[in-house]
Amino acid sequence: MHIVTQKKPEVVIAESDRAIARMGAAEIANLIQMRNAADLPTVLGLATGKTPILLYREFIRIAHEKALDFSRVITFNLDEYYPMNTHSLQSYHHFMRANLFDHIDIHPAHIHIPDGTLSRKDIANYCAEYEEKIQQAGGINLQLLGIGENGHIGFNEPGSDVDTRTRLVTLDPITRQNAAAEFGGETNTPSEAITMGVATILEAQRIILIASGSKKAHAVQQTIDGPVSTNVPATYLRSHNNVTIYLDPAAAKHIKSA
Ligand code: PGA
Repeated sequence: MHIVTQKKPEVVIAESDRAIARMGAAEIANLIQMRNAADLPTVLGLATGKTPILLYREFIRIAHEKALDFSRVITFNLDEYYPMNTHSLQSYHHFMRANLFDHIDIHPAHIHIPDGTLSRKDIANYCAEYEEKIQQAGGINLQLLGIGENGHIGFNEPGSDVDTRTRLVTLDPITRQNAAAEFGGETNTPSEAITMGVATILEAQRIILIASGSKKAHAVQQTIDGPVSTNVPATYLRSHNNVTIYLDPAAAKHIKSA
């Protein structure tokens, strides 16, 4: 049982974080099946963080059950800390292997995750190439997003403009506080990251944002009901005509008219 509002973006309030995970995972699996049947590649934009873990778990289950063919699936992750070793346990490279890629039959050459090992002088070129690779793949068919407590999408922190592209950014204090436990304290937490931009995200054909828990309720309310503003980068999703926001009741609790 879930509620779908008439809002733009579409908002789906499900009974639990598991229900959100099931719906999101089913949508991604269906897209891959449909595009495989039409002999088309599927280009996915992928997210990290606590929220998508359940979705990936459910997705792996469906992929095995349906014997999904990943030979034409190409992925681009949103972000990575900088600097960050690919084998570090806190890296998003590690996260993606542990939570998804080690469990599905995806071609390693089809996986793209921003590189946190670059020297600083190479980052600008690398980011331009990341954008080009997305274009060369045909653009992102479906972008999965979480949302930060501060309204960030990817690591597009408050202050990120609608025309931003893949780039090196400084992390917001709230983002670093939230990540501190994984790094053994805030002083060990990276202060920078490489992230796709808001414009990169908005070019995806379809976007699904998932959020659960009351810590996200304020950012979610701002995203849906607040003014569109660089202060809450997720509000830019309102300019996209194919976005669904999947919420559990706790994350949805401040939305005005559900
Ligand atoms: P979380 O992160 O899923 O760990 O809450 C979401 C985000 O910051 O985008």
